[in-house]
Amino acid sequence: MNAESGFPVKPVYGPADVPAGAGADEPGQYPYTRGVYPTMYTKRPWTMRQYAGFGTAAESNARYHQLLAAGTMGLSVAFDLPTQMGYDSDDPIAHGEVGKVGVAIDSIDDMRLLFKDIPLDRVSTSMTINAPGSVLLLLYQLVAEEQGVPGTALQGTIQNDILKEYIARGTYIFPPKPSLRLVADTFAYCRAEIPKWNTISISGYHMAEAGASPAQEIAFTLANGIEYVRAAIAAGLAVDDFAPRLSFFFVARTTLLEEIAKFRAARRMWARIMRDEFGAKDPKSLMLRFHTQTAGVQLTAQQPEVNLIRVAIQALGAVAGGTQSLHTNSYDEALALPTEKSARLALRTQQVLAYESGLTGTVDPFAGSYAVEALTDAVEREATALIDRVFEYGSAVDAIEQGFQKGEIEASAYRIATEIDSGERVVVGVNRFTLDEEEKYEPLRVDPAIEAAQVARLARLREERDGPAVQDALKDLAKAAAGSVNVLPLMKDALRLRATVGEVCHTLRGVWGVHRPVERF
Ligand code: 3HC
Repeated sequence: MNAESGFPVKPVYGPADVPAGAGADEPGQYPYTRGVYPTMYTKRPWTMRQYAGFGTAAESNARYHQLLAAGTMGLSVAFDLPTQMGYDSDDPIAHGEVGKVGVAIDSIDDMRLLFKDIPLDRVSTSMTINAPGSVLLLLYQLVAEEQGVPGTALQGTIQNDILKEYIARGTYIFPPKPSLRLVADTFAYCRAEIPKWNTISISGYHMAEAGASPAQEIAFTLANGIEYVRAAIAAGLAVDDFAPRLSFFFVARTTLLEEIAKFRAARRMWARIMRDEFGAKDPKSLMLRFHTQTAGVQLTAQQPEVNLIRVAIQALGAVAGGTQSLHTNSYDEALALPTEKSARLALRTQQVLAYESGLTGTVDPFAGSYAVEALTDAVEREATALIDRVFEYGSAVDAIEQGFQKGEIEASAYRIATEIDSGERVVVGVNRFTLDEEEKYEPLRVDPAIEAAQVARLARLREERDGPAVQDALKDLAKAAAGSVNVLPLMKDALRLRATVGEVCHTLRGVWGVHRPVERF
């Protein structure tokens, strides 16, 4: 039994372990087991998209220019917790968190600084933002309009996956029902205004980081995906009008073969779900396109350089598994924010894979492997059974409210923890091959003075803007939120007048309330 995946990995696989013809389907053809594009990386590698952001917009803008100069192919914005929770930097609840785990973005002024001298028609930008995802997307669109870039030219993704926030990550604001309404409004708005934008990144990463096995990661992510599709259809959208712009996000762990199998199983499961349950006809509606991040929880603080090797193996799994976009963790992230050098080394790991390993020369290289095909089948079987268990509760939201997914993940996390404690699961440098004396390491720290600077910027913004006009726009937004019209155009009007992220979210809290999780012990 392999501890990581929870299903048995045999010492030897052979023809009897895989169905006849396994691995014989065409890449870029239904059910896409071998990849969503016929040529995959043979024409262009995956997008090297390094997650970054800290401190003020100006500091993060400098890091983005460093990453673009070092060869990163797409941007990926990390926001600080107050922004992710819809609070302004001068809100008392934000004290101590401003600019800490990501960049502080309060208004259009900050968003303009974040992308200073970055042409928004020439980059694709991912934003890891969920409950206020639509607000940050609108700020991005407003800044693009100031650059003369139309919405039709914008490429990127907002994570916008509120369901996994209830299960594993915690940056939710509103209860499930209005949250799903806001997701559907965002799908409709992007279809009309920003058609090349990926409207959601349905994430398994955080559930995996919380302890989910490969099968649990896939099952609970695809179950959330089904819930979003059902919500959008219930809101009156046609499946092929929004499904092509759904995207996904998974982890890559060090257990190489199971992770390759996991990605291959996820693609063919999603293709079958979209065709058989939702009758999607557009091939792009059936393609599971995904981003991968290497496993943060597998980084060790002990002998941190060993993480360079872990990340390389994890990135290999993501690439051999057919990812569209990849973030490689920096080796020092278990200690502190990555330094410029460690962030560059993380990117170099991808460049060695793309330009030295030869892996981009052929599509889905493990197809037909007895072990990988057998593992692909095993993950698919286990994940399919788990999805059925989710929907025995009625819906993914019902299962979440009953604590099902959280309970399953916690049981898996407990099993992993006991295996590490017992030494059954080796963590090099931690429970075997340890050093008596760890070497000194100088981490990068965020200057706490940035909070004061950000608060001062907000005070100036509130003085300079047309206060009454902002209040009127927020009142119009509240009316729309209480009704059934799409709220994004009214949010955009308020943001253009320099309403803040906190004020827009506070207006919506006033109408929709906030989510209160049911505690279960
Ligand atoms: N053949 C044909 N076309 C191809 C191709 C090929 N081989 N390769 C690429 N293309 C085309 C694509 O069709 C696409 O064109 P389109 O948009 O018109 O369809 C274009 O080239 C770009 O290719 P991709 O869409 O494959 O690559 P992107 O990088 O643009 O998008 C994605 C990838 C997964 C679809 C997208 O959603 C994405 O970038 N996601 C990133 C999410 C992310 O970075 N998340 C970070 C989360 S951090 C976090 O949460 C962890 C923290 O909490 C700790």
